[in-house]
Amino acid sequence: MSSNPTILAKQETSSLLQVEHLTVDYVSIDGSVRVLEDVSISVGRGEVVGIVGESGSGKTTLGLSILGLLDTPPAKVRSGVIVLGGETDLLRLDEHQLEKLRGGYLSIVLQESVEALNPVYKVGFQLLEALEAASKREGKRFNRESAKQEVIRLLEELCVSQPNLVLDKYPHELSGGMRKRVAIAMAILQRPKLLILDEPTTGLDAYVQSRLLGLLRQLNREYGVAMLIITHDLPLAATICDRIYVMYAGRILEEGDAKGVLNSPQHPYTRALVSAIPQGFIDAPPLDVPPGDPPDLKRLPRGCKFAPRCPQKTSLCEASEPLLLESHRGSVRCWLYSDDKNT
Ligand SMILES: Nc1ncnc2c1ncn2[C@@H]1O[C@H](COP(=O)(O)OP(=O)(O)OP(=O)(O)O)[C@@H](O)[C@H]1O
Ligand SMILES: [Mg+2]
Repeated sequence: MSSNPTILAKQETSSLLQVEHLTVDYVSIDGSVRVLEDVSISVGRGEVVGIVGESGSGKTTLGLSILGLLDTPPAKVRSGVIVLGGETDLLRLDEHQLEKLRGGYLSIVLQESVEALNPVYKVGFQLLEALEAASKREGKRFNRESAKQEVIRLLEELCVSQPNLVLDKYPHELSGGMRKRVAIAMAILQRPKLLILDEPTTGLDAYVQSRLLGLLRQLNREYGVAMLIITHDLPLAATICDRIYVMYAGRILEEGDAKGVLNSPQHPYTRALVSAIPQGFIDAPPLDVPPGDPPDLKRLPRGCKFAPRCPQKTSLCEASEPLLLESHRGSVRCWLYSDDKNT
């Protein structure tokens, strides 16, 4: 096993996105709560990466940090860098520079899709605007009629029946599931190099979910769009992702090749997530949580944050928090896999 202290040592030269040592707090008059602690992740060019974990583990906060969409305050980035394309540190960009990246290089499907759409414009106008902006960036001629046909085709791919009618509606006139599909279409039409999807399947029925996954795969294979898929749904992540990070209490507990994480999870937390997946998991509903409650971020235990729920904990786990170490199958933050436990 490597004695390398953190996953960060594994610099990937082909990385499209590299988040390094990101630490974020939410600050209120009651005090400060650490929501992300020293989080490092990478997404390679053309790679599909999943972030999985229970509610409150910090997945959305991580996604919003990358896009510079955190509300500050209450959020406060304490440390870290977010490097895009090997050079730009997103945390140093001003709002104008970030705005240029969003909807170009980067786009996001927000967990609350209603926030992605402007309530005062009709859906069709907003989708066509997104496509027009993408055509401009690519130096392509924009023809409104053929653009409209492209938008309609995409909505049909997303199982929107009568897309013409949908284009003529305001966002508030659509159901939640329909708004989600429009938000996904909007993000895709922006033709990003990196697409971040936060809980993309929430509110969609099983058939629409599987069409969406097919569409995302196609985008990745044919156009090389890299993706960061944020979800509490491990089977979904395993179906589409190349690599997965497992988050807990604002920390990465495990990272590895998606099939490896699903078939031979290392961390007891990941094992608990996998064993909670019903048989025939591909079409299964969202997974159950492992026994016990997710941790209260204001009162985290001193050692491993999963220790209070861990069936394999020892006194060492309660006394001291392990580092995220490279292992033979990715990386894991658990004393069970550390050479240092006797030192
Ligand atoms: N604006 C905010 N102000 C204060 N605390 C916040 C804010 N947004 C999120 N939090 C807290 O930060 C923690 C992480 O939240 P986050 O939304 O990132 O988790 P998540 O993993 O995306 O959860 P879910 O699966 O429910 O979407 C939670 O404890 C949440 O209560
Ligand atoms: Mg979330």
